[in-house]
Amino acid sequence: MESTKTQTTTKAVAYGNNHSFTSLGPLEIERRVPGAKDVAIEVLYCGVCHSDLHQASNDWGNTVYPCVPGDEIVGRVTVVGADVTKFAPGETVAVGTMVDSCRQCEACRQGLEQYCEGPKGATQTYNGPFKPDGTNTFGGYSEKIVVDEHFVFKIPDGLDVRRVAPLLCAGLTTYSPLRHWQIGPGQKVGVIGLGGLGHMGVKLAVALGADVTVFSRSAAKEADAKRFGAADFVLWNDPEALAALESSYDFLLDTIPYEHDLNPFVRLLRRDGTLTVVGLLLPFSDATNNMEVAFHRRNLSGSLVGGVPETEELLKFCAENDILPEVEMISIEDVNDAHQRMKNGEVRYRYVIDVAATMPAEA
Ligand SMILES: NC(=O)c1ccc[n+]([C@@H]2O[C@H](COP(=O)([O-])OP(=O)(O)OC[C@H]3O[C@@H](n4cnc5c(N)ncnc54)[C@H](OP(=O)(O)O)[C@@H]3O)[C@@H](O)[C@H]2O)c1
Ligand SMILES: [Zn+2]
Ligand SMILES: [Zn+2]
Repeated sequence: MESTKTQTTTKAVAYGNNHSFTSLGPLEIERRVPGAKDVAIEVLYCGVCHSDLHQASNDWGNTVYPCVPGDEIVGRVTVVGADVTKFAPGETVAVGTMVDSCRQCEACRQGLEQYCEGPKGATQTYNGPFKPDGTNTFGGYSEKIVVDEHFVFKIPDGLDVRRVAPLLCAGLTTYSPLRHWQIGPGQKVGVIGLGGLGHMGVKLAVALGADVTVFSRSAAKEADAKRFGAADFVLWNDPEALAALESSYDFLLDTIPYEHDLNPFVRLLRRDGTLTVVGLLLPFSDATNNMEVAFHRRNLSGSLVGGVPETEELLKFCAENDILPEVEMISIEDVNDAHQRMKNGEVRYRYVIDVAATMPAEA
């Protein structure tokens, strides 16, 4: 008897792992057949974020395997659903860290989908259970992806598409708190950790008019920091250098991915200054001394990527101000090495996978 069941998924080749202790390799995944509001995208380029490494290694204890990372995606539209209004086949587009949210809660209505207060919160591009069928989401280390058009972005003219992908996570995660805390001319800003996020934070804060210092543990990065527009460069593991800077910063953006002590950075803030931590999403190694916080009415805060309107604003801002990440293009088979080099602090400053050119035809 002929089956009357409608096909709901298609196969795709991806790169991922099945356990925290195994490296990433080719595997076959399923992508849904585009629905009315969906855009099917052939992935061209995908940035390598430190979160990809955390997630594949189960550093946050919430990884569902198989894990296919990748939340900085640039691709070409292949198919659009019947109700898609913003995109057409052939267009080059971008996808970031989210692919769904409730769209009705206060956060979603305010364009802060990353903080969705709906029953399941925002669905992450990878490792985010996708609501309709409960299956795990797979990211941009794959030949194609299907996304609701609300979470697909147009790329403004003039931006080099080979370098755009890291704007979708590294760029947005640093732009959002800079905008939220109203960073602008006349303010002293410190960016802690000069990696993928950090170097975007420097370029964006400089473009917003701030006087920027890079706090790094790598002396070899000083020339790069200055080239990205930083006025000063400080080795934060030198207590004397930090002591000289006490109470002098309006805003600090901490991008360090691993456990560390916040207290030395808190002391750098002026009265009413803010330290926003975007790097570590786990406990800090030392308790924060609230005497240092309270006696100067300092603010400690965190921040999660950015919402849809802010992503559009960021892409426009980068096009207008000629801001792009420093990227090193890699092949998909080099992604494990790239993760290791990122962990070793060797990345300068974002790896981007040439997915379309290097993904194997079969898993
Ligand atoms: N909150 C969010 O929404 C969000 C979004 C994306 C990513 N993240 C997180 O942000 C963190 C940074 O991501 P990334 O892609 O920018 O990573 P990255 O490219 O590896 O850069 C991190 C930088 O931090 C410094 N660093 C690295 N390991 C360190 C250690 N053990 N101790 C002290 N400093 C260290 C290094 O800078 P120096 O050599 O200059 O010291 C490194 O270049 C990750 O944990 C990631 O998961 C958060
Ligand atoms: Zn990311
Ligand atoms: Zn919501």
